[in-house]
Amino acid sequence: MPIEPATRSLIQRAAKVLADGGVVAFPTETVYGLGADATNADAVLRVYEMKGRPRFNPLIAHVADLETAGAHGCFNAPARKLAEAFWPGPLTIVLKRRAESRICDLVSAGLETIALRVPANEIARGLLRAAGCPVAAPSANRAGHVSATAASHVAADLGEGPDFILDGGDTVLGLESTVIDLSGPEPLLLRPGAIPREEIENILAAKLGDATTPNEPTSPLSPGQLASHYAPRARVRLEATCVEPGEALLAFGGNPLPTQGLVVNLSPKGDLREAATRFFAALRQLDDSGCAGIAVMPIPGEGLGEAINDRLRRAAALRGA
Ligand code: TXA
Ligand code: MG
Repeated sequence: MPIEPATRSLIQRAAKVLADGGVVAFPTETVYGLGADATNADAVLRVYEMKGRPRFNPLIAHVADLETAGAHGCFNAPARKLAEAFWPGPLTIVLKRRAESRICDLVSAGLETIALRVPANEIARGLLRAAGCPVAAPSANRAGHVSATAASHVAADLGEGPDFILDGGDTVLGLESTVIDLSGPEPLLLRPGAIPREEIENILAAKLGDATTPNEPTSPLSPGQLASHYAPRARVRLEATCVEPGEALLAFGGNPLPTQGLVVNLSPKGDLREAATRFFAALRQLDDSGCAGIAVMPIPGEGLGEAINDRLRRAAALRGA
């Protein structure tokens, strides 16, 4: 499983691996994805197995442009508006699936909907254009673990699994795409992410309904929103006002809590965008230090803070809950 810097010729080689039914990890602007040809059920099955992902949790189909997306999902007016405003970019739109789409059922985990995204990262775009197929790609981490924002995280989590890891350096946004469901009568926020809710509501001129409370694992609406997810090994303690013995500190802002232990500050200047970019790598770094627990300072809930706090709540949830 070679990790290789993504030159043009390597992107072509990786595209060939995809077209031949292989599994390729690649950077996007949000996190690394673990991709397979979405029309090839055997290849998609390998992705589920490699991640240890439950089969009821569907995957996002990545495509090169809005036109291609239109061949797979039934676009309505709000979907078109959002796609025009945010694609290419960190937005995933869930739509009714077109009957003629060649994407295999396994990608949708048996649902009648399909999640579509046009990523902005140039390596991802080059790969999608060269592969010429929709690419089903969950985040390239072990299921339930912290998402990968660097090629080394992919290798640490998935080892020899992928046939190819395209190295595009650290991802620029650091948090997954925002997932919006437009398949029903009202727009729903399925997963807060790299585009804040307010920006989407502005474009739609409507409020987003919420579907982000942890659901039963088999809930068809938002199957990925399990309570325990993004979980490091160490116990995570939120809203900390002191650091206890054995704990490392995930700090935010200009006044980190006093401690003799390890500290990673997501943003000393209190900038949520900077915090989002560093978030998953910071969790991995603290976890790798061998600390017993991670104390997390309060992080404001507005803008990107909604997505950061969502991931933190899941990281702190009891395993198996
Ligand atoms: O930024 C991202 O979205 C990254 C990069 C690689 O594109 N991908 C990613 O994929 O985060 P994943 O599989 O880790 O998360 C996809 C989320 C899950 O919560 C899943 O349940 C939801 O999207 N999803 C996928 N298809 C769906 C569908 N048809 N209906 C409802 N939710 C869906
Ligand atoms: Mg994921």
